[in-house]
Amino acid sequence: MHRRLNRILVTGGCGFIASNFILSLLERRSDLLIVNLDKLTYAGNRMNLQELEQKQDRKQNTGYRFIQGDIIDQILVEQLLAEHRIQAVLNFAAESHVDRSIHDSAPFIATNIQGTHTLLEAARKAGIELFLQVSTDEVYGTLGPEGLFTEETPLAPNSPYSASKASADLLVRAYHETYGMPTVITRCSNNYGPFQFPEKLIPLMITLAWEDKPLPVYGDGANVRDWIHVLDHCRGVELAMDQGRPGAIYNFGGDAERTTLQVVTAILDLLGKPHSLIRHVQDRPGHDRRYAMDFSLAARELKFAPTRSFEKGLLETIQWYEHNREWLRRVEDGSYREFMNTWYGGRQ
Ligand code: NAD
Ligand code: DAU
Repeated sequence: MHRRLNRILVTGGCGFIASNFILSLLERRSDLLIVNLDKLTYAGNRMNLQELEQKQDRKQNTGYRFIQGDIIDQILVEQLLAEHRIQAVLNFAAESHVDRSIHDSAPFIATNIQGTHTLLEAARKAGIELFLQVSTDEVYGTLGPEGLFTEETPLAPNSPYSASKASADLLVRAYHETYGMPTVITRCSNNYGPFQFPEKLIPLMITLAWEDKPLPVYGDGANVRDWIHVLDHCRGVELAMDQGRPGAIYNFGGDAERTTLQVVTAILDLLGKPHSLIRHVQDRPGHDRRYAMDFSLAARELKFAPTRSFEKGLLETIQWYEHNREWLRRVEDGSYREFMNTWYGGRQ
């Protein structure tokens, strides 16, 4: 199967992963229209895509439109699908941070579940050619020291965030089974790279280490994540968009299992900072011990393979943040500082 989709709605396009996705796709494809629907929450930054907006200001054709709005807004979503004759919906929009979901789960239920439902309903009425749901390995829960998540692993989410993502996946599955909607679900492991909001492990530790502040490691720091460069994830989503089988689920991973302590010490070493900055703090409640992905289905059906080594990607990511301190200054607003103070203040 090979689809040639030209008119796409990307939701959450001003966030970390989708802004990388839009930039990388529009760099290579001049036949595309991407409509980006983003609410601009604390995690959404229009400046991630400013090079596209600057080109538009110079009257250059970019194939890009930005609409500020909520995926829960059914009237707006239906209007966008009709007005732009959208062929495919790629749903990246979400509340994405596990710690915030523990602190206050309500926005996760609204955006991740109700928002996905709104998009599915609008897509069903519009007779869309593809609904692609960007999901996560966290829906599978946690692994012991051995084994890998496959697409057949039962869903067993442990945080309000992962429960909301699993709920959305089930809705997508139901729309495929009930209405025959051509859907694809992608489930990826932990991303890192440019434009990641500094509440997530890697950018948080980089920015704290710069200032010689303590680096808060939850519990014993032996929790394992499989790290993938964001552009490898984006490539996977593109392959799934072009070739994914209707009804299929695809796992993506980076083949780079690391403990939190391994990641944090690697950052300190690259920055030339002492390991004594590490502080073990109270563990995250319900903290999943290990994630690891079997992505052989995506390798077989989509020819997906991660291409960047973690060590090289981490160094490049540190360099990106060093060159983009102004970006950091602008995204770290008052609500960010308020959440960080409340969350970490209680975990000393
Ligand atoms: P992010 O938090 O950086 O960005 C989320 C974006 O969604 C922001 O631009 C935000 O403004 C927008 N948004 C939030 N609520 C919205 C709403 N109601 N309507 C419209 N827009 C809204 O997230 P991310 O890390 O880029 O993750 C993107 C997607 O990928 C999410 O669905 C997430 O679950 C999934 N995912 C993330 C990772 C990871 O490691 N970050 C891994 C696997 C899957
Ligand atoms: O696996 C995919 C998921 O990866 C995505 O679905 C989520 O959207 C994304 O946020 C990410 O979730 P994690 O919880 O794995 O990522 P986070 O960066 O928050 O944490 C990574 C690991 O580091 C985890 O074991 C918790 C630990 N950690 C994190 C923070 C923020 C710490 O020890 N200290 C910290 O301060």
